[in-house]
Amino acid sequence: MQSIFGQGTWNEIYEHLSVCTQCPLSQSRHLPVMGRGSRQADIMLIAEAPGAQEDQQGVPFVGRSGEVLDRLLLECGLGREDLYITNIIKCHSPGNRDPNEEEKKACFPYLKYETYLLKPEIIVCLGRVAAQRIIAPDFKISRQHGTWTHRKNCALTATYHPSAILHDPSKYELVKEDFLEIVKKCSLSYAARWKR
Ligand code: URA
Repeated sequence: MQSIFGQGTWNEIYEHLSVCTQCPLSQSRHLPVMGRGSRQADIMLIAEAPGAQEDQQGVPFVGRSGEVLDRLLLECGLGREDLYITNIIKCHSPGNRDPNEEEKKACFPYLKYETYLLKPEIIVCLGRVAAQRIIAPDFKISRQHGTWTHRKNCALTATYHPSAILHDPSKYELVKEDFLEIVKKCSLSYAARWKR
């Protein structure tokens, strides 16, 4: 694959991102946030954009949404070491506003190469912004969460963003059910792991 990141290795993507000035968010960010987790993971989570705490630490999901995500993962028998977690946009936007088209376009090569290198079996979009960018522009989380689409060797699904659970805790069980289906699909439950 032709790459603007040299050979397109993880390190090259990281080096490129750490000095990226491709969109105006580079002026206001503190740190760009590269994806984190296992580079051998079968499951890739794609969320929207780093929040204020992620911007300070340069790590995805370290704030309150991250706490919700960790609890969900734990209750489904998963840890961050089982996944790769990234965002559509790698830099925090002032006031946490939705990323605009220019920002999404400028940032897309990073996500493209993370996906290319990881080759996940399953992509899980967290929230509307990711689902509409990755699955379908008219994707409706409330109606379509937990449904599956298949592309090449990858199964794609979406569920609510953990921040939606912070706003409405009644969504927790719904999202947990979606995650349990994801675990089932990937045969990554503790039971399956212990049997290996
Ligand atoms: N919300 C996101 O969408 N991504 C993060 O990394 C943190 C919070």
